[in-house]
Amino acid sequence: MNLLGPFEALTAEPFETSWRSPSNIAFVKYWGKKGHQLPANPSLSMTLKNCFTETRLSFSVGTSHPGVELFLNGLRQEKFAAKIEAYLRSLESLSWLAKVHVRIDTHNTFPHGTGIASSASGLSAFALGLTDYLFHLSGVKVDFFRTASYLSRLASGSASRSVYGGFVSWGDESDFYASSIPVHPELAHLRDSVLVVSGDEKTVSSTAGHGRMSEHPYASARFAQARTNYHRTRAALTAGDLSEVGAVLESEALSLHAMMLTAPSAFTLLKPKTLAAIDMIWAFRRETQLPLYFTLDAGPNLHLIYPESSQHKIRTFISHELAPLAESVIDDECGEGPVKC
Ligand code: DP6
Repeated sequence: MNLLGPFEALTAEPFETSWRSPSNIAFVKYWGKKGHQLPANPSLSMTLKNCFTETRLSFSVGTSHPGVELFLNGLRQEKFAAKIEAYLRSLESLSWLAKVHVRIDTHNTFPHGTGIASSASGLSAFALGLTDYLFHLSGVKVDFFRTASYLSRLASGSASRSVYGGFVSWGDESDFYASSIPVHPELAHLRDSVLVVSGDEKTVSSTAGHGRMSEHPYASARFAQARTNYHRTRAALTAGDLSEVGAVLESEALSLHAMMLTAPSAFTLLKPKTLAAIDMIWAFRRETQLPLYFTLDAGPNLHLIYPESSQHKIRTFISHELAPLAESVIDDECGEGPVKC
């Protein structure tokens, strides 16, 4: 499927646009690819509210140096600029973009290395700005967010889910773009406090981690499990069944890290403090029956998921018992998705 057909023969003009796009946390994990940036199994995520990237794009033409200039917090970043340039070149059907110069001014509301995906927020913010440019030049009026999700996916799979608010799935309706999914009103305002146990640079990137699934002895069992977990989570989100959502959430996090531990070229991103916090969360839940659950991304930091209704007691536990294990705690919640700003 190619959603870029209407944009293949455009004439470049100057244009400026600015987008704020949030990160997301996967409840059912995308871990393993097929073809070019297509997921081996469906995934499902909650879009965050406070953790976002704000990106201004200035497109110009006729400059002697077409290409990409990128400033993160006002500082020029050659490495990220080269990545975006390679991404734009990979959009072969939009070859006219080679004549365009893009200046990118970007900043995140959250620090790097905290287990909050800056690639999801950063690359979706860029893709939204690029989509805005394509829609402006072509006059196309429909499927803006679907196109933005398609372009985000080509930059980073999880970014495809950041272009919508609430809960989002990718790899069910389509492998090529994500879509928003319904949620019971009681689960529409879930909290996510991120327990940052280590801000160290990851030893294996997510992209490299996906690659380790291609020769993995448990790959097909994992993809089948993810499909089952996807359908369980969707049903539980619709029914408002938080204990079922939480059970699958934790199983997904542990399976993701089990895949790393059992890969032919094994690695782990877990730290002793991650496991200590998991033990404490399980004990807290046993003792209090309060609905506090965890998940993990490809890193050691825990996302603590709980409802607004138990927020007070759970935040007291987090700040008294779990925070001493961590470098910091970042409080976030389910958000409404990107905005043009
Ligand atoms: C563990 O989206 O970062 O966060 O497509 O190679 O850029 P690329 O990978 P990426 O992988 C995310 C993996 C994950 C799970 C998830 O967000 O679904």
